[in-house]
Amino acid sequence: MSTQKPVLLSGIKPTGDLHIGNYFGAMRQQVELFKSGQYKPFIFVADYHALNTMHDAEEMRRRTRELVTAYLAVGLDLEEVVLFKQSDVPAHTELCWIFDTLTTMPYLMRAHAFKDAEAKNKEINVGSFNYPMLMAADILLYDTKVVPVGQDQKQHIEIARDTAEKFNHLYKDDVFTLPEPYIMPEVAVVPGVDGQKMSKSYGNVIPLFASREELAKRVMSIVTDSSGERPENVYAIHKLVRSEAELVPIYEEHKGKYKVLKEMLAEDLSAYLAPIRERYVALQSDHGRIEDILAKGAQEARAVTEAKMARVKHAIGVS
Ligand code: ADP
Ligand code: TRP
Repeated sequence: MSTQKPVLLSGIKPTGDLHIGNYFGAMRQQVELFKSGQYKPFIFVADYHALNTMHDAEEMRRRTRELVTAYLAVGLDLEEVVLFKQSDVPAHTELCWIFDTLTTMPYLMRAHAFKDAEAKNKEINVGSFNYPMLMAADILLYDTKVVPVGQDQKQHIEIARDTAEKFNHLYKDDVFTLPEPYIMPEVAVVPGVDGQKMSKSYGNVIPLFASREELAKRVMSIVTDSSGERPENVYAIHKLVRSEAELVPIYEEHKGKYKVLKEMLAEDLSAYLAPIRERYVALQSDHGRIEDILAKGAQEARAVTEAKMARVKHAIGVS
């Protein structure tokens, strides 16, 4: 029996400025999972997936850099994790093509993302239509067992599984391991300053790397009703950084005094995020570090995928 740990793989698109909803809702748990020691983790910047919606070279470079810097700042451990860029590993698109030849159009037309785009009468590019095949390649190249994703990505993992089964069956060779989704528990829906779910598309975010002053400004702008009861939006964010046992008496004592409570939240949030922000700033000024990390990750990822592709090519008869 193999003593190797099961592979855990996650891809993240470099498409948005990170906010505290991303951190408390996803990144914090992801990093814990990578650290747990139960898995062999791979994590990559899904830049070719992002290319479906982002066609500005400078923006792509900046966001890729920011994403990698952010994950390092929140505590990703490079001793444990292979961190790379999808575009640095040619096997992803190569295997995607091979999968394209055994997947039918009607099958991909059943994907939620495609159906949503169609329902909205949106024009969809071929890359977006084919998104699930590139994602299947991402996953299957590494013999991935576990893919931590949000509920919205579950179907993509099922498609990757189907594709692995189809290939293995067609070529009578168990080339691919069947992956399982690991649905990240929704720890909390972090509200934005307007009370809706915090989201970059609603313009209601508190940025993860905001300065102390900027944090205070955003926190003071949180919308509260004037019922005199506990300001739930403020409390919902507060309990992410301080225990409820401590908070309940504080909110009781300052009932109705929204300004005081917000000032306390700004203080606590700032103290909580300060070490993360400091690491982020230090990494930003360390030119070359991110490039070095990605180059090393790409080398490791290429070694794994080249071996896999040799097996695939043998199975399909092109080598
Ligand atoms: P946005 O809504 O700002 O576009 P994304 O869709 O890029 O954010 O989300 C990236 C990750 O962050 C997802 O796993 C998502 O579940 C998590 N996330 C985003 N916003 C929130 C939020 N307000 N509360 C909890 N988790 C969130
Ligand atoms: N589709 C994922 C998202 O939008 C990103 C992604 C691309 C991914 N390839 C992956 C996630 C492989 C997990 C595994 O969030």
